[in-house]
Amino acid sequence: MNTVVVGTQWGDEGKARVVDFLAQEADAVVRFQGGSNAGHTVVVNGEKFIFHLVPCGILHLGTKCIIGNGLVVDPGELLMEMKTLQSKKITLKNLYLSSGAHVVMPYHRKIEEREENRRGRRKIGTTKRGIGPAYVDKTARRGIKIGDLLNKEILAEKLKMNLAFWKNSYELDFSEEDILKQYLEYGRKLRKYITDTSLLIHRLIEEGKNILFEGAQGTLLDIDHGTYPFVTSSSTIAAGACIGTGIGPRYIDEVLGVTKAYTTRVGKGPFPTEIKGEIGKILKERGKEYGATTGRPRRCGWLDAVILRYAVRVNGLDELILTKLDVLDTLDKIKICTAYKYKGKTVKNFPFQLNGWEECQPVYEEMEGWKENTSRLSAYKDLPYRAQLYLRKIEAIGGIPIRYLSLNPERTNIIKIS
Ligand code: IMP
Repeated sequence: MNTVVVGTQWGDEGKARVVDFLAQEADAVVRFQGGSNAGHTVVVNGEKFIFHLVPCGILHLGTKCIIGNGLVVDPGELLMEMKTLQSKKITLKNLYLSSGAHVVMPYHRKIEEREENRRGRRKIGTTKRGIGPAYVDKTARRGIKIGDLLNKEILAEKLKMNLAFWKNSYELDFSEEDILKQYLEYGRKLRKYITDTSLLIHRLIEEGKNILFEGAQGTLLDIDHGTYPFVTSSSTIAAGACIGTGIGPRYIDEVLGVTKAYTTRVGKGPFPTEIKGEIGKILKERGKEYGATTGRPRRCGWLDAVILRYAVRVNGLDELILTKLDVLDTLDKIKICTAYKYKGKTVKNFPFQLNGWEECQPVYEEMEGWKENTSRLSAYKDLPYRAQLYLRKIEAIGGIPIRYLSLNPERTNIIKIS
């Protein structure tokens, strides 16, 4: 069974703990896009693990963990993450890195910083990990690939061309020689992990293994289908799993969407259900809504069924996994946005073409809160009736069933529903 797991919102839906849970049954976990902009948190017996590049499956002994060709990899960050894992006695013998993944260079971060400053009030609010400029180089066909780190001549030539290009547009104080030395050293350290991961995944598929494709960020941050230009630079939707790993779409058996019981967003951009007042603060504090990569507070708001239905459509979702329901435990009333009002009209479908997001007003349906602590429950039948109603409402307006519910950060607390 080959399963893709994606976020249905603007990232931070709790995908990591879901992937960690599903990885119990997986032979391989594969990342297919993004880079160290992702911050995937898993809590095991009170100990917190934050993954940026290494797939969450690494916590499961024997599970192959594959970093696919669709990522942009900062080798320094990857090595640091690997060192931290080793210091926690996590073995890396099942880690594989695609020779075709692109490399984040030190000047990519600098360029991103300058670009953001230039944008002024149209800033995107990026994670400053060099992700955008690394994907720019990839698309412009002058990028450096992980495999290039293993060949001094090729790396030197590509680096020369790449740096000269950027130095034409920006004043950059980087020494080509120093970078070459450092990145060859990275290559030496990563050599034993570097391989043709597309071939590896194909072999696993042929052997009938279970593969889990771990999405990063979320549907609304997708470069093509998100709230452009306030998006990341990769294909975060399920289709990205094929491009970012080198397998055909017919090998994907199911697509699961992870949805938080409310909505959050880090960085700038449209967010119709954002709550600016007291309830927004409650969600932020109870949900510990601070970025795992940047520490930035996340903007919080109600669940938005317009974007949920959109995510179901563009990802071809089969089922949902709902996370962080317990964060809503203390609220008297809970709202779900079912449509937007825009220039006097009711908009039910995601307004993809729209530039006037600021003018979209959410249309809410209000439900009674359950006002009971659900964070330690372990069966659906024990959920308060009103919480069950909330779940049923999400299924009805999303049009697909909820398969699992996760109630607190511990990996054991995932409840099977459908
Ligand atoms: P970038 O990916 O660093 O270029 O950032 C582009 C946008 O995506 C910004 O709004 C970021 O806050 C957002 N973003 C990138 N990665 C994540 C993530 O893992 N979770 C949530 N938001 C993210």
